[in-house]
Amino acid sequence: QQQEKAALLKAYDFAAKLYHYILGNTEQGKVAKGYLASRGISDKLIDTFQIGYAPAMWDTLVQQLVKREFDLSLMEKGGLISAKHEGTGYVDKFRERIMFPICDAAGKVIAFGGRSMGDAQPKYLNSPESALFNKSRTMYNLHLARPNMRKLQQAVLFEGYVDVIKAWEAGISNGVATMGTALTKEHAALLNRNADQIVVCYDGDNAGQSAAFKSIPILEETGSRVTVAMLPDGKDPDDYVKQYGFDRFVREIIEPAVPSMKYKLLYIRKNFKLHEDGDRLRYLQSAVKLISELHSPMEREHYLKQLASEFPDSSYEAMKLDLHEILLQS
Ligand code: GTP
Ligand code: MN
Ligand code: MN
Ligand code: MN
Ligand code: MN
Repeated sequence: QQQEKAALLKAYDFAAKLYHYILGNTEQGKVAKGYLASRGISDKLIDTFQIGYAPAMWDTLVQQLVKREFDLSLMEKGGLISAKHEGTGYVDKFRERIMFPICDAAGKVIAFGGRSMGDAQPKYLNSPESALFNKSRTMYNLHLARPNMRKLQQAVLFEGYVDVIKAWEAGISNGVATMGTALTKEHAALLNRNADQIVVCYDGDNAGQSAAFKSIPILEETGSRVTVAMLPDGKDPDDYVKQYGFDRFVREIIEPAVPSMKYKLLYIRKNFKLHEDGDRLRYLQSAVKLISELHSPMEREHYLKQLASEFPDSSYEAMKLDLHEILLQS
């Protein structure tokens, strides 16, 4: 078991170096380099994140692993290669993909996220879980972000690898991402061990905003203070940087991140037609319900006052009565 882990670590390290070399130094890598350049990912970023390229050939990695006498059935179990469907032998798992190495907290490569450059599906092919890789405990870029998270006592949580990378270039050195799967309690605990405050910066589409809403209680459960950075309609951090530049991303998106309660109120608001009396009342009731879930009376009062000033035809006193009733019932 321990030996298998060591062999897999060695193989992942070797594969990451091979793919990185191919991207930077070969003819086959040129198209991939061009793709990354078109996405605003510079040579410096390629080096920092050890990005690579897995060529279209069937057995680039298999050949090298054979030459170095790696145990191929173990390499298959570890998700680097696949058994051929017909006959015997193995083929590379990742072909014609940009390779993003995923590291453990110590910076050792334990998995890959492989992105197709065209329309090939899936868009991202990730390594399967293995003796090395547990998705619910791994965060992309944790090894580089962790010292900065500790210093700043703040972490920025993104949805995708590319968002983390582009944000890094914008000076956000404390950014991490999950593997596209849901945020787990383990992720939340991991972040909380390193920072008090977490800025959630997910994509500005429905999927991203709903994921942000759901991430709040998970993060707060471990004791972190959560703010949410909001992106305009359908854009993600990487799109925003591309369109408006690094400075504006930091100034207009990250810095104005709002407290989780404010975000929740804005988020549920979209389901109501506020110019209609009935809907407006239902929104206010839902909002008061959310506010009632705050533990601190002072915070409850703060948001209740804000709500009342925003909706002058419903009085603060009435809202407070509603809130008290909810608190009594719970
Ligand atoms: P890029 O900017 O190229 O990353 O594309 P995007 O912004 O459209 O990516 P998206 O917002 O869809 O994905 C965010 C994250 O979700 C990625 O970094 C992956 O971790 C994950 N993800 C996206 N698509 C897939 C997929 O097809 N399979 C898997 N396993 N994960 C995915
Ligand atoms: Mn390099
Ligand atoms: Mn998305
Ligand atoms: Mn995205
Ligand atoms: Mn993107």
